[in-house]
Amino acid sequence: MRIVKYPPPKRSTVYGGGNLWKTTAVEEIRVQAGNLAQDLLKSLNPIPYAVVENWFAPKPAMLFRQLFDKESSTYTYLIADSQTKEAILIDPVLEQVERDIQILRELGLTLRYCLETHIHADHITATRQLKSLTGCLSIMPENAQTTCADSYIADGKMLHIGNVQIQAIATPGHTDSHMAYLVNNTHLLTGDALFIRGCGRTDFQSGDAGLLYDAVTQKLFTLPDDTLVYPAHDYQGQTVSTIGEEKRWNPRFAGHSRSQFMELMDNLNLPYPKKMSEAVPANQHGGKV
Ligand SMILES: [Fe+2]
Repeated sequence: MRIVKYPPPKRSTVYGGGNLWKTTAVEEIRVQAGNLAQDLLKSLNPIPYAVVENWFAPKPAMLFRQLFDKESSTYTYLIADSQTKEAILIDPVLEQVERDIQILRELGLTLRYCLETHIHADHITATRQLKSLTGCLSIMPENAQTTCADSYIADGKMLHIGNVQIQAIATPGHTDSHMAYLVNNTHLLTGDALFIRGCGRTDFQSGDAGLLYDAVTQKLFTLPDDTLVYPAHDYQGQTVSTIGEEKRWNPRFAGHSRSQFMELMDNLNLPYPKKMSEAVPANQHGGKV
C-alpha cells in the first residue's frame, strides 16, 4: 500500500487569510465556547429547577369561596376538593339557589352536602331546594331542633369532602346547638358565635351569653393566632379576620370577663330579626316554606 502524505493546507486557503489565523485559533474558540456554555448554564439553572418544582409541588386541594346574600348579610361558604370536584355548601340561603347552582355548574363541582352552623332566624336555608336539585345530603349540628336532616354532626367529629377535612366545634351560646367548623386546620367558619369585631346575639333560640363567652374564649381563641376567621354574617363589608386579631380587637371579648360580657349582651336591646317568625320554623324543616 502506498501512503500519500498530503502537504499541510495553506493558511490562506482554509482560514481565509494569514491574519485571521491568530484571532480564530481553535484553542481560543474552544475556551470561548466553554465560557459561553458555563454562562448559559448559570443563567438557565433557575428556570429548569422552578419548572421541576412546579411539576412536583402538591396541587392546592381546597377550593374556598365566600358568597354573600345582601338582604340578610349572610355569608355562604362553598368548599370543594379541587381534584375530586366534590363540594359542600355551608349556610346556603334560599334566595341564592340559582347563584349557587350556577357556580357549581361553572366550576364543574358535585354538591355532596349542605351543612348548617345552626338554625337561623334571619333567613331561610336553601338546603331543601338544593337537595331536590342536586341530590345532596343535609347535615345539621347534633341536638338541633329539627328532625329532617339526613345526618347530624357532633362536637369534634370530622367531615371529609375529598381530601378536605371539616371538623365540628360545638360553640353554644348564640343557639344551644350551634357549631363552628374548622376547615383543613386553617379556615374557621365561626357561624354566629364569633363575628369580625362582634358576635351573634344571645337573647333568643335558647341563647346563653355565658356559654357563648366560654365557647369563644376557651375553644375558638385557643386555636393558632393565624387561623382565618370567616363569620356567617357581616354588616360592615368585612370579609375575613384571624383568631389573633379577634382576641386582641374584638370589643365584645377583649379585656372583658365572663360577667362583663354577659352584662353587655343582656343590654343590647336589639329588635328581633324581621323574618324570625317565618325563618325559624322553616329552617327546622330544612327550609320548607
Ligand atoms: Fe343566627
